[in-house]
Amino acid sequence: MKSSTIMVNTLSTIKSFSLLMKNRAVDFTIFTLLLVGFLYIFLISTSSKDMPFFPSPKSPHHSKHPSMMFGENLDTVLAETSTADKTVIIAVVNRAYVDGDVSMLDLFLDGFWLGDGTRSLKDHLLIVAVDQTSHERCRFLRLHCYRLETDGVDFDGEKLYMSDEFIEMMWRRTLFLVDVLKRGYNFIFTDIDVIWLRNPFSRLIMNASIDFQISTDKFNGNEQSEANPINTGFYMIRSNKKTVGLFNAWYARKNNSKGMKEQDVLERLMREGKFRDLGLRVKFLDTLYFSGFCQNSRDVRAVVTVHANCCRSISAKVADLTAVIHDWKRFKRSSANETMTFGWSKHVACINSWKN
Ligand SMILES: *[C@@H]1O[C@H](CO)[C@@H](O)[C@H](O)[C@H]1NC(C)=O
Ligand SMILES: *[C@@H]1O[C@H](CO)[C@@H](O)[C@H](O)[C@H]1NC(C)=O
Ligand SMILES: *[C@@H]1O[C@H](CO)[C@@H](O)[C@H](O)[C@H]1NC(C)=O
Repeated sequence: MKSSTIMVNTLSTIKSFSLLMKNRAVDFTIFTLLLVGFLYIFLISTSSKDMPFFPSPKSPHHSKHPSMMFGENLDTVLAETSTADKTVIIAVVNRAYVDGDVSMLDLFLDGFWLGDGTRSLKDHLLIVAVDQTSHERCRFLRLHCYRLETDGVDFDGEKLYMSDEFIEMMWRRTLFLVDVLKRGYNFIFTDIDVIWLRNPFSRLIMNASIDFQISTDKFNGNEQSEANPINTGFYMIRSNKKTVGLFNAWYARKNNSKGMKEQDVLERLMREGKFRDLGLRVKFLDTLYFSGFCQNSRDVRAVVTVHANCCRSISAKVADLTAVIHDWKRFKRSSANETMTFGWSKHVACINSWKN
């Protein structure tokens, strides 16, 4: 029976009872006690199902078992989200990415809606939230969500590029990603400011012949060349001993890399020969497919992702990624002849974001 029906039935019982007791002095007191008692049972019975997801605001930062408190067990979430070959798509969000008239998360999801063959990928997308607001937003949107414990660090504001908090947040996510690899899951990591216009699985090598495929700010024409400027905003990594070794080595540099963001640290490891030492098979992704604002894809008919890299603030990214969505819609509407002359909009807001 529905709780609401019980409530109505019980209320009418209480009503008749209180009519019988009309002349008694205790009448009102008993009625009140019954009502309070009933409401207590009613609230307990209706909210227990949701309660693990809405912890008391006092406790989150000091809990020893945050995943249990939020009702999410990482192994369970990964199993529910992954593809048959144990691959998940991972994006990390904080409040700054879910707030606003049009948030970065909205645009990100728009991409999956508007892209070619991208809608079903949402089933394999895991949103990792580093604060309560973004976690609630994720649940509201009925996505696969995981609340990452952040040791009392406040990650809910906009982290301006290269601020101490920005760097701390990046390291926290690296630590989480090591954990995912160790649990045996391959993943595509995507920043939330990457718009997916086509399904990348057909452009990535999904078998064990490549361990790590990483996007570049500018592609130098050679898929094997470590001279490519890597961008950790989009990559595909397989779970194996070599990749766990790489991520452990990466995270181990945290304390000795003051003022460097984790991407710079990975780049340094690469320059020092770590990829080769580990025997890692790496592919550097061509911006023709995995593009960004640093270097546009030269062909809208081939582009897979567009990353708002070379951009400093969230508002600028939102403005220029909105233009990307408009460009994409224009492309989809256009005739074959018109697509020959297609050009991307200029990333005006992002260019301006570097001037104070
Ligand atoms: C792996 O996939 C690529 C293309 O995605 C293919 O060319 C290659 O032969 C495959 N290798 C193995 C070992 O299956
Ligand atoms: C960094 O330093 C902190 C505090 O000294 C220590 O607890 C932590 O284990 C160190 N982390 C790494 C990756 O070495
Ligand atoms: C497309 O362009 C070709 C040659 O440039 C022209 O012959 C053809 O009529 C054009 N088609 C349309 C639909 O505009």
